[in-house]
Amino acid sequence: MIPQEIIKAKRDGGMLSAEDIASFIAALADGSLSEGQIAAFAMAVWFNGMDRDETVALTLAMRDSGDVMTWPDMDRPVADKHSTGGVGDNVSLMLAPILAACGAAVPMISGRGLGHTGGTLDKLESIPGYDILPSAARFSDIVRDVGCAIIGQTGEIAPADKRLYAIRDVTATVDSVPLITASILSKKLSAGLGSLIMDVKVGNGAFMQTPDEARTLARSIVDVANGAGVRTSALITDMNQPLADCAGNALEVANAMEFLEGGKTGTRLYQIVTTFAAHMLVNAGIAATLGDAAGRVVDALASGAALDRFGRMVHALGGPADFAGNWRAHLTRAPVVRPILAEREGHISAYATREIGLAVIGLGGGRQHPDDVIDVRAGFSGIVPIGTRVEKGEPIAFVHAKDEAAAERGAWHYAASVTISEQAPTNAPVIIETIS
Ligand code: URA
Repeated sequence: MIPQEIIKAKRDGGMLSAEDIASFIAALADGSLSEGQIAAFAMAVWFNGMDRDETVALTLAMRDSGDVMTWPDMDRPVADKHSTGGVGDNVSLMLAPILAACGAAVPMISGRGLGHTGGTLDKLESIPGYDILPSAARFSDIVRDVGCAIIGQTGEIAPADKRLYAIRDVTATVDSVPLITASILSKKLSAGLGSLIMDVKVGNGAFMQTPDEARTLARSIVDVANGAGVRTSALITDMNQPLADCAGNALEVANAMEFLEGGKTGTRLYQIVTTFAAHMLVNAGIAATLGDAAGRVVDALASGAALDRFGRMVHALGGPADFAGNWRAHLTRAPVVRPILAEREGHISAYATREIGLAVIGLGGGRQHPDDVIDVRAGFSGIVPIGTRVEKGEPIAFVHAKDEAAAERGAWHYAASVTISEQAPTNAPVIIETIS
């Protein structure tokens, strides 16, 4: 069918064949479709949706618009994880080296901050010299030698998604489950994965606000990725408070290093990282049961093997050779660090988590315009979990800023995002549901 007939068929609620979807996406990628045609197609999908077969076809066509990696002589299972994004979500920084230390190969293609959420690439760029865009050959060599490499989406990876995403962004068609599914998976499947786990976040710091929305997206991604031949499961996890005890780029790298050194046990972050790692080891066929997998994860952390993999990855990608042992000397610190004090006594009972993400951006730790340069030092540390009992005047966090005025604004924004109540809140689970 010619493009306008494909758009009309979807506009009228019809089903598209895999051939029609492939020809439309090929024309989108080679520049022969106008922006108007692409926007009309996206809006028709937004209104009328796509079933599983159509979404699989869209995902594969977008994946095949660029380079697709293969690992013909790889002696380890190739696995990855993707998060829909949140605040203080630095899980990928620990998961990739843990999985590498446990015998998987992790070619992780990550993104920058989107909206109020932080991005793994922006965090890694706080490490001096770290190259987020190596050549495909170097990326592949590092994954083979070290076991993991975290890099960005080059122009050769799913270019159809790049064009479609830019048009969706300005035509109110981002929030469509089949379009989000195909967008995320086209990039992930370009890495030639054998298995994938999705972290679908839900809550006031996530894009999905309700468990039902999160479940629908998780189900779609799991069904489509499995339909495309990649063994995939999803966990729906809580994002009603920052996940790490900090938010901000260099601060989250520091937090990851402390985690890999054996700190942070007993935290919500520890529960998420170790649970995801265990599921990934089972999905990849490295461990037979979640119990066996959990033991291997604990060993990878206790032995220092995961920390060592992280250090080797950083060095292989251009960062300091001694980063794992000497990271404090390499991460820059903001010139102004001030405590934020509790305005009353009681229990921390809620966070306006999205506002904390926006406060990081306000400090310069995220972008307000696409070409903004990020201040990687900016953010908040010492964030206490919901349920913590605090006294009036006690620090509930620390603001890291470039000057006193920015620190004052950031501290105000943060304090306005915290609710302190007399009553202790009930404990919400971190992992809400597993979809497999
Ligand atoms: N992240 C993506 O990569 N694509 C979407 O459509 C939404 C989030």
